[in-house]
Amino acid sequence: MSKILVTGGTGFIGSHTCVELLSNGYEIVIVDNLSNSKEATVDRIEKITGKKVTFYNVDICDYDALSGVFRENDIEAVIHFAGLKAVGESVRKPLEYYTNNIYGTLILLRVMRENDCKKIVFSSSATVYGMNNKAPYTEDMPTSATNPYGYTKVMIEQILKDMCTADSDFSVVALRYFNPIGAHSSGLLGEDPNGIPNNLVPYIAQVASGKLKQLSVFGDDYDTSDGTGVRDYIHVMDLAEGHVCAIAYASEHKGFEPVNLGTGKGSSVLEVVSAYEKACGKPIPKKITERRAGDIATCYADATKAKEVFGWEAKSDILQMCVDSWNFTKLNPDGIQ
Ligand code: NAD
Ligand code: WQD
Repeated sequence: MSKILVTGGTGFIGSHTCVELLSNGYEIVIVDNLSNSKEATVDRIEKITGKKVTFYNVDICDYDALSGVFRENDIEAVIHFAGLKAVGESVRKPLEYYTNNIYGTLILLRVMRENDCKKIVFSSSATVYGMNNKAPYTEDMPTSATNPYGYTKVMIEQILKDMCTADSDFSVVALRYFNPIGAHSSGLLGEDPNGIPNNLVPYIAQVASGKLKQLSVFGDDYDTSDGTGVRDYIHVMDLAEGHVCAIAYASEHKGFEPVNLGTGKGSSVLEVVSAYEKACGKPIPKKITERRAGDIATCYADATKAKEVFGWEAKSDILQMCVDSWNFTKLNPDGIQ
């Protein structure tokens, strides 16, 4: 039977998507170099689904190893999560980011072409809307970036578009995620960042668990309802479902299709803090600090296209996302071991 190759499948979004794929009857093969995840995640995916997963500890930049994976498995389509994703780190280490994300994708596309595999769902990001568009973002807006991480997403989208121009049989869905948070309801999978978290909800989770003292709220003088930044937070399981829709869509449509995966609704930093306090039943100590460089006031999706083309829309609200994040945090004080 043909299989879906999931690159970066032991990572945060990849692991939840693997659960959703297996629950929908797909067979999967995971390739991950474990640079930002643990092999124990594979057991957890198997535990939740009761299904077997084929895992390769392989770097997508390694042409020979990746070719071997395609030789050993009949790969019908790829979901491509593998990549480095920390914005600040990408500014300090541009070469590492361009090499890993872009060179890695080029190797993957070459191996796909050599094996006549012509369907790919790519993890893009709302970051491609840059600083010059105004929310709600629609897929036809011009893309741009402000940091090397963002440029890797803009450039990979361009590469994939060019692949579709060169080969009319090629099929690409570029999923532009907004702010994925939350965890699987079992508490077995969730977000497990290395070191001090950069993102809001993982940071709040560590304040709630007592690992960090207090949250810094980066600015309360934005032009928003309460002055703090507004983002479109989306439950990772809703996101995972969106990938199953995207794979089905890619099997029936050719060409390049960018699709937003967001709720279409923004929440402020203070609204997220208040939902998390409700979820964990204790106050989250916080102080207002300077704005963080590079942040914008408001970012949320126009989620119409995903509904039109996939029949998909996000279901969970911000409280549910915080409840599931807290459940994972409580059950895994030292992350996934
Ligand atoms: P993650 O770091 O948890 O998962 C990425 C996985 O890819 C990790 O398991 C890592 O070990 C693996 N990986 C990295 N480089 C690799 C390589 N060269 N070869 C093989 N494996 C490699 O991140 P995530 O949050 O699950 O994000 C998945 C994708 O979605 C990324 O491409 C990211 O840029 C994109 N994205 C994430 C967010 C977010 O806020 N989490 C938002 C928009 C887009
Ligand atoms: C959310 C809000 C902060 C931390 C980033 C990437 C983006 C995408 C998702 C991959 C903002 C505020 C945060 C804190 C705070 N990733 N905040 N205190 O910046 O929207 O998006 O992750 O593609 O590319 O840039 O997410 O969670 O960092 O911030 O006040 O300690 O929380 O200012 O308003 P962001 P975030």
